[in-house]
Amino acid sequence: AALVSPDGTGRLPAMGWNSWNEYACDINETVFLNVAQQLVVLGLKDLGYEYVNIDDCWSDKEKRRDPVTRELLVDKSKFPNGIARTAELIHDLGLKLGIYSDAGTETCGGYAGSLGFEEVDATTFSSWGVDYLKYDNCAVPENLTDEYPYAPEEPDKTPDVPAGYDYSTSTTAARYKAMGAALLSQPRTIQYSLCAWGHAHVERWGNDTGHSWRMWGDIMPMWAGRDRWSWGLMPIINQAAFLWNASDFWGHSDWDMLEVGNGDLTLEENRSHFAMWAALKSPLIIGTKLEGLVLRKPILDILGNRELIAFNQDGVHGRSARPFKWDGKWDQTHPASYWVGTSVRGVHLFLMNTEEEGKEMRVRIDEIPPLEGQGDAEYLVHDMWTGEDLGVYKGEIVVDVARHDTAALRITTVDGE
Ligand code: GAL
Repeated sequence: AALVSPDGTGRLPAMGWNSWNEYACDINETVFLNVAQQLVVLGLKDLGYEYVNIDDCWSDKEKRRDPVTRELLVDKSKFPNGIARTAELIHDLGLKLGIYSDAGTETCGGYAGSLGFEEVDATTFSSWGVDYLKYDNCAVPENLTDEYPYAPEEPDKTPDVPAGYDYSTSTTAARYKAMGAALLSQPRTIQYSLCAWGHAHVERWGNDTGHSWRMWGDIMPMWAGRDRWSWGLMPIINQAAFLWNASDFWGHSDWDMLEVGNGDLTLEENRSHFAMWAALKSPLIIGTKLEGLVLRKPILDILGNRELIAFNQDGVHGRSARPFKWDGKWDQTHPASYWVGTSVRGVHLFLMNTEEEGKEMRVRIDEIPPLEGQGDAEYLVHDMWTGEDLGVYKGEIVVDVARHDTAALRITTVDGE
């Protein structure tokens, strides 16, 4: 039931950059033009990062809409030449432009939302040359509250839901479908990214509504824990360990934009973050400052890891990696740590050390689901981080994994099949 765009948009997870994680509301045209240039200069465009996405706070907070046409008004102090001009300049570099709005009366930052203005706004975005819309979920009027509200972070607050209740009939779904229909009636393809935070079980109806759907509250650059509605990496991965399976070609669970390079994440934590987001087939939307990234070489190398990107963007195998083993302990800080996925290049293991110390991680070949019953053969194991082969293994693979790091391995037969 996926939304299939004839030009291929959304078949694979989106790749690009978004302003929110690093700049929040402190944005202007220059930020995006510089980002676009940096994507090219740093070689990230060639690796597939193509969307330059404006997040919240781009419109005129006071005047809001044209009194006659009802079109959204741009904040001229931030975008003096209008969004259409920004789009043009970004297109000139062979990149695409994304914008942000909200399925309520206001965005999360208090700017005008699109509820009730879906047609007008989709038409405006299309006429500006916008290629991607992130559609948020703030300021929903009381009368549009779902009959059975569901938020994944607070499942206990969900009222009893009648057996067989279909969340695609919820008002949340209706709010998102209204914009989806308006976008589809435009003369250009606009990648549609639902930012519904997992509410109303968006993973059950997101696929026929848009190209990707946010699954959880906001990410922040910390390993574990939460700060109000923002969360560290581990609780998000824990949720993904149970809901990895909604993603395939044409529709992707969005585990939120990357915090790689931000805050106090250690190098190992940055590696785990990128490896797991790639493994989950999440959109890969960079959220760090690109200027000066060349000096932060280890971070650039993580974001530019060709093998992980190739797994995320595999044209033959669309499914997310999945967990197959938990380490004794399990809570929101210690999610499943043994994951496996398949690509055209082999079977991939992602072994994430959630502990506070480095440790040995062991996997018996015959407990890896795609290799079950084939435990007696010899396998070539390749390290996706270094790009080098680790050697030939039989029976069991054992690797040392540093605190909060993730080993990313590729397994093939000895002759590379
Ligand atoms: C949140 C959203 C964030 C960001 C922010 C802007 O709701 O999840 O990703 O867009 O709003 O105000």
